[in-house]
Amino acid sequence: MMKDEFHEFYKKSVEERLRILKHAAGLTDDEINMLKSGAIGIDVADRMIENVVGTCELPIGLGLNFMINGKEYMVPMCTEEPSVVAAASYAAKLAKAAGGFKTSSDEPIMIGQIQILGFKNFESAREAIIKNKARIISKANERDSVLVSFGGGAKDVEVREIDSEIGKMLVVHLFVDVRDAMGANAVNTMCEVVSPLLEELTGGHARLKIISNLADRRLARSKAVWKKDELEKSTKGLMKGKEVVNAIIEAYQLAANDPYRCATHNKGIMNGIDAVVIATGNDFRAVEAGAHSYACISGKYKPLTRYYKNKDGDLVGEIELPVAIGTVGGATRTKPEAKIALKILGVKSARELAEVIASVGLAQNFAALRALATEGIQRGHMRLHAKNIAVTAEARGKNIDTVAAKMIEEKNISVSRAKEILDKMH
Ligand code: MEV
Repeated sequence: MMKDEFHEFYKKSVEERLRILKHAAGLTDDEINMLKSGAIGIDVADRMIENVVGTCELPIGLGLNFMINGKEYMVPMCTEEPSVVAAASYAAKLAKAAGGFKTSSDEPIMIGQIQILGFKNFESAREAIIKNKARIISKANERDSVLVSFGGGAKDVEVREIDSEIGKMLVVHLFVDVRDAMGANAVNTMCEVVSPLLEELTGGHARLKIISNLADRRLARSKAVWKKDELEKSTKGLMKGKEVVNAIIEAYQLAANDPYRCATHNKGIMNGIDAVVIATGNDFRAVEAGAHSYACISGKYKPLTRYYKNKDGDLVGEIELPVAIGTVGGATRTKPEAKIALKILGVKSARELAEVIASVGLAQNFAALRALATEGIQRGHMRLHAKNIAVTAEARGKNIDTVAAKMIEEKNISVSRAKEILDKMH
């Protein structure tokens, strides 16, 4: 690597960076063209992050059959994982038989944290903050008149006491209604703006001033019923509806009582959630952090969903988790595909989007549990996996399906077998 050429790499044009990279990594012209030819546009990408040398594309599939509060949605899902879109769509279709998903959500309140150290007395520091709540809130809101004009802004203040190895800390929570934004920028700015006042009130000094991704004031919920008759049909009569309901509840109960299973259970939920979060240009790391921290808010790591039987013996599924996403700001507007995804969804607010996302998470989880509790996950998965393997073995066009079908029939899905089948076809 020629060190000098990488000096101030961020200041160079994309073309210049690519020239340096091509040489340093021995890339071909085709590889360089691939790196820079994504739909997002290399110039847009160059304005989004640093040292840009390309874009990275993933498929967007359409999650279908999502009837949510009586309205049908087409849900763009961006993922590299086979089966995710098909499974979510199938779960949504089965739920539709009982009316689909019913949702609710909290106001879009995000939490900002200000860590105060070196205060003299905790109780008097707390009292001073509580007494001056209105001043703190108005100081925070001075900074974001736009948010305030939309009905958002700082709304409340809370004081928390945290014990640590290095002594007691005071943590102020600033509750900010971020309306249709994800809110990190607004909240972080407000935290910084109110810190000098908090220092003055407490006699301490403010260290961290940052949003919390445990957005437990911004929960989204969804609920659906899966009728036992539909579940029976889904097994083509191999299992009784009642048996499927029981098997899914048994699967859920393992997750509810065992963190090893629960991690996988929640991962399956996030397969669907992240796919929509990414398609809409939102911050999937923030949503992941929120989901998993909320999953262990009781002190034990728990499933984000819950399953039980209703009086008719049908299966009821529910989900509740923080969904900190926006429909304005950030990549939701700069990334062209994100704008298109929001248009396809037709959502009018971040809350509506959060409720769709929660429904997709529930559908995804139900689909995984149904498959695991009945036929096993590998059957459906293997169909799509076989196609990927065929492509890896360089099958193209119609050959992809032919090679995949043959490997499934032989129950031998491997790149080497795909290559042999292709060779014979030529
Ligand atoms: C795979 O990405 C997700 C599953 O493992 C989820 C689950 O086991 O519930 C199928």
